[in-house]
Amino acid sequence: MKTIITPPTDEAIERAGEIIKEGGLVAMPTETVYGLAANALDGKAVKSIYAAKGRPSDNPLIVHISKKEQWSALVEQIPEEAEALANAFWPGPLTVILKKSELIPPETSGGLETVAVRMPSNSIARRVIDAAGVPLAAPSANLSGRPSPTRAQHVIDDLDGKINMIIDGGECEVGVESTVVTLAVDEPTLLRPGGVTVEMLESVLGTVKIADAVIHELPKGETAASPGMKYKHYAPKAEVTLVKGDIERFISILKEHKGEKPAALCYDDDLPLLSGFTALSFGREDDPAEQANDLFNALRELDELGAKTVYARLPSLQGLGLAVYNRLVRAAGFKIV
Ligand code: TXA
Ligand code: MG
Repeated sequence: MKTIITPPTDEAIERAGEIIKEGGLVAMPTETVYGLAANALDGKAVKSIYAAKGRPSDNPLIVHISKKEQWSALVEQIPEEAEALANAFWPGPLTVILKKSELIPPETSGGLETVAVRMPSNSIARRVIDAAGVPLAAPSANLSGRPSPTRAQHVIDDLDGKINMIIDGGECEVGVESTVVTLAVDEPTLLRPGGVTVEMLESVLGTVKIADAVIHELPKGETAASPGMKYKHYAPKAEVTLVKGDIERFISILKEHKGEKPAALCYDDDLPLLSGFTALSFGREDDPAEQANDLFNALRELDELGAKTVYARLPSLQGLGLAVYNRLVRAAGFKIV
């Protein structure tokens, strides 16, 4: 298939809307990562998303809306807590899971009785939703298992020739996927950390439970509350290991493994101390927002450098750091020394 690659002109957005109405696939920027969008209410179109990404079909998709009024038709009901979250954080990087309505086909919900909905703030994404006139199912626009795309080039690298259109809207602001919270269980539970932090959620909900799989590896055979969390995710081709402790310990671990020609994924200030090693930084140590913004691009760059073994600094779990840690620990297959 010939993929149209285009800037977000009015004509391109209009064409994107037509493609989606006809059951096609369009990659679009959002404030978190690029999404691969199809009509969320068309099971057949949604099926082709799984095919293009090579994604397991039991992993449900997030439904994107541009106006809050679109939400009520997609879910059984909207409880007060959900309303409060939407008022506080929509449009923005927050996904809310509720019991689904009949409108949502099983392809979109991965066979579950619930549906994840979010209203993105990115104006290009919102224009595409408006042009299509339907809610859009949109997972991250990467091949399944690869780091999520934060630039159009990442989408081109993974999906050129497999989808109808890629809209180039520049770099994504947040750089990691949205925060996912479920209200379809007794206690509001964080399933995936993201741009809306636990602290921000708690300012609205009181307390939020953090699902085990956010921080720890799931024991074999245990079912994840969020199916996406059971897969090794965000993985570069290299073998990644996270290193606890300070920069001195990091350097000594690198030296110990010199024979493996290890690459370092480090903070800006570490770079001058790592001469002699291939080193790539993913932001300043005290700036988790910058780390979130750079992380996936850094993981892809390590692949391009041909790195086989990567040692990475262990980010703090505070604020947006939790989202960075959650992605990095999955990239590492939970290997921490
Ligand atoms: O920021 C984002 O959320 C991006 C952009 C494109 O909007 N989208 C995204 O979608 O990250 P995806 O499909 O890569 O991740 C969706 C996550 C998966 O971990 C999935 O298992 C979980 O949300 N999820 C979706 N629906 C769910 C449901 N009904 N119950 C539990 N988890 C669900
Ligand atoms: Mg994804």
